[in-house]
Amino acid sequence: MTISPNIAVQFKNVTKAFGEKRVLNDVSLHLEQGQVLCLLGRSGTGKSVTLKIIMALMRPDSGEVWVDHENLAGLSERGLSAVRKKLGYLFQDAALFDSLTLYENLALPLKRLTNKSKEEIDDKIHHVLLAVGLGSDSAKYPSALSGGMRKRAGLARALVLDPKILLADEPSSGLDRITASEIDELLLRCKEQHGTALIVVTHDVHGTRRIADRVAVLDRGDLVAFGSVEEVAQSENDVARRLIAE
Ligand SMILES: Nc1ncnc2c1ncn2[C@@H]1O[C@H](COP(=O)(O)OP(=O)(O)O)[C@@H](O)[C@H]1O
Ligand SMILES: [Mg+2]
Repeated sequence: MTISPNIAVQFKNVTKAFGEKRVLNDVSLHLEQGQVLCLLGRSGTGKSVTLKIIMALMRPDSGEVWVDHENLAGLSERGLSAVRKKLGYLFQDAALFDSLTLYENLALPLKRLTNKSKEEIDDKIHHVLLAVGLGSDSAKYPSALSGGMRKRAGLARALVLDPKILLADEPSSGLDRITASEIDELLLRCKEQHGTALIVVTHDVHGTRRIADRVAVLDRGDLVAFGSVEEVAQSENDVARRLIAE
């Protein structure tokens, strides 16, 4: 099978188990560059594992994973590092370093992974923080940030390397409705202004309906629905229909 030039991420018959427990069972899905895929499913159904496999933090037991035209199985550790540089990852808990200011949290990946000068780094951080509405908070420590600000700070850190593909694990969980929709707007802006492909793990039906080009529903390791919001809303699968119902 040939890969369309626009495909950002593709799973072909991916299976992953931990011991006896099958977490992903023959999962095939794909995402085009510049599109948003929302990944839905009950807790423990393999959503975070899916993101970790894309990041090559875990390997599948069988099947193929393609990220930006590279088959991860064929890559050396150096090749995987190159792929990871194209990926931004917003962790479920934002995962900021508490002992570092917001500026220092964002400077870390820029210093480690790019050859940018101090001025270029300052400039980049300034712009990314402005974009997420934290323009005057760069000297603050994570402990001084509200839940919504921490999520936005985590997003800023995921965006600081201009990823082609952004993976966001429950970016709006634990936030009130208004703050959650602000995060959704920021995610949409990444797609619209930078052509970023996004995979967003979420439980938020309203957010999904607002931002998703494609919806994938996992249930007990099976991909039980994959398609547009409307297609999934009319799916034969009960769990999928219920998860996307308003
Ligand atoms: N590193 C691991 N070792 C063993 N089991 C794991 C590991 N990571 C995840 N699991 C198991 O895989 C299942 C799916 O986990 P996860 O993808 O985190 O679920 P969720 O859909 O809630 O994000 C869970 O049963 C979890 O306990
Ligand atoms: Mg999870």
